[in-house]
Amino acid sequence: MKKIFILLFVSLLFFQCKQQQIPPSKQVLEKGLITKKAMVVSARKEASEIGVAIMKKGGNAFDAMIATDLALVVVYPFAGNIGGGGFTVYRTKDGEIGSFDYREKAPLAASRDMYLDEDGNVIPNKSTLGAMAVGVPGTVAGLFKIHERFGTLPFSELIQPSIDLARKGVIITKKQANSFNKYREFFEKANNRTIFLDKDWKEGDTVKYLKLAKTFERIRDNGRDEFYKGETADILVDYVKDLGGIITKEDLAKYEAKWRKPITFTYKDARIISMPPPSSGGICIAQMLKSIEPFDISKFTHNSTKYIQLLTEAERRSFADRSYFLGDPDFNDIPIDSLISSKYNNKRMINFNWDSATNSSEVSYGNITGMESNETTHYSIVDPFGNAIAVTNTLNGAYGSKVYVQEGGFFLNNEMDDLSSKPGEPNMFGLLGAEANAIEPEKRMLSSMTPTIVEQNGKLKMVLGSPGGSTIITSVFQNILNVLEFDMGMQESVSAPRFHHQWLPDEIKFETRFDTIAFPQLRKKGYNISQGNSRILGKVDAILVLPDGKLEGGADPRGDDMAVGF
Ligand code: GLY
Repeated sequence: MKKIFILLFVSLLFFQCKQQQIPPSKQVLEKGLITKKAMVVSARKEASEIGVAIMKKGGNAFDAMIATDLALVVVYPFAGNIGGGGFTVYRTKDGEIGSFDYREKAPLAASRDMYLDEDGNVIPNKSTLGAMAVGVPGTVAGLFKIHERFGTLPFSELIQPSIDLARKGVIITKKQANSFNKYREFFEKANNRTIFLDKDWKEGDTVKYLKLAKTFERIRDNGRDEFYKGETADILVDYVKDLGGIITKEDLAKYEAKWRKPITFTYKDARIISMPPPSSGGICIAQMLKSIEPFDISKFTHNSTKYIQLLTEAERRSFADRSYFLGDPDFNDIPIDSLISSKYNNKRMINFNWDSATNSSEVSYGNITGMESNETTHYSIVDPFGNAIAVTNTLNGAYGSKVYVQEGGFFLNNEMDDLSSKPGEPNMFGLLGAEANAIEPEKRMLSSMTPTIVEQNGKLKMVLGSPGGSTIITSVFQNILNVLEFDMGMQESVSAPRFHHQWLPDEIKFETRFDTIAFPQLRKKGYNISQGNSRILGKVDAILVLPDGKLEGGADPRGDDMAVGF
């Protein structure tokens, strides 16, 4: 009897211990890395370290940005790139703000119906896999233009660590090994041959990028035009042509990166600075925050039914507008001021009520008087001088189009899928686009990337952003609220579970570890719940300026992300 009792007791203890064991992916880290002067938070430790080393040498945040960006091409080819594009939002030590667009463009030979068959139906995969999916890359032009205005160290010093790393090789993580293995068959399909990554990868293996090192050396020696007019341009165009793509040397030669006026607005006592079109990010964040501003959010319980409901309704209305109004500002007049005004967004929320969900079928774009995967990467930098920079870069899908320019050693984007293959039909993120985002030669595709900087009392407060296609916007939205309304630290905020609504499909997506407690009530009110399809939503890398002036990093535990600083 005594034996049975002891056995029962031990089993119970074992069961309880098991219950209390929280898998690493579910652990919420309360505090991130805290440093005094400077920090880089990026998708990989090596890239953050390289950015920090540049600042230790006396470089500023812009120098560190260029070095980090190039390092990500080597250590994080999933999204780090020279064959894609991106956006940057900055705030200098003197409070000067700006944003920068080096988004890809549709090739000159692109046409509205290029992804449709003779019956007018979208041809599966044509805008996502292979050479036809590739937009004209902007990253190299972007890095040189930023360097020209803000760089303080020679470009050659900023690229050299990545040349060395590419030659020495990168020790890959478990996530990276799984990712290489997962996409192997797609690499072969997109390239009509096996590429050098074709083997069974394991955590701890070393991968060397010798061709990429050579490309970087040519860029180091010949400058920006190496990529757009030089040997690298020839290599790229020949390879794409061989695979049936349409990018020409003229496309590359004509590419220009652009300075843009950032989206700025206030939310309570904070000022938000974010990315304007061709990203939808800044406008959508502004709309969502303006829609909920009249509510006393800090009195809500974080991630409670009411909180989820309110944010969902703001997200629903904003994504409906996104699909209609937004596209490349060089091709469309976008009524930005009206779209982000309190008046307009408060009016949009008039039919919201706490008792039942608004149906997305009843929500269209609003009435204005006057009218994009997880496979992106974001990093945040603050330097010892007080400059801050938020950078989101993308190839669009994982490894972009999967086209790997063999002689150049880099992947090419599949950003053409962020244009509307057929206005009114969803892209790979399920996002609808309208005429504003229809395919036209040289058009920049609508993006969701949301590099963002937050000020409070005139001072730098937070630098943040995320990958994740449409979920970028809602991830940034929730992290701003986590800090401003719920007083969370940066790591706590970044680690907190997230949810997402994008108008259509009419469902709230929850991360798999999101507590289900609110679900019965939400269902009763008419909300459709989806959990399990999206293990993670976004992957936020952020920096918070603490009240004593120190910096706290938030490196997203959903990835291999890492904060490094001093
Ligand atoms: N390619 C994802 C985005 O730009 O939103």
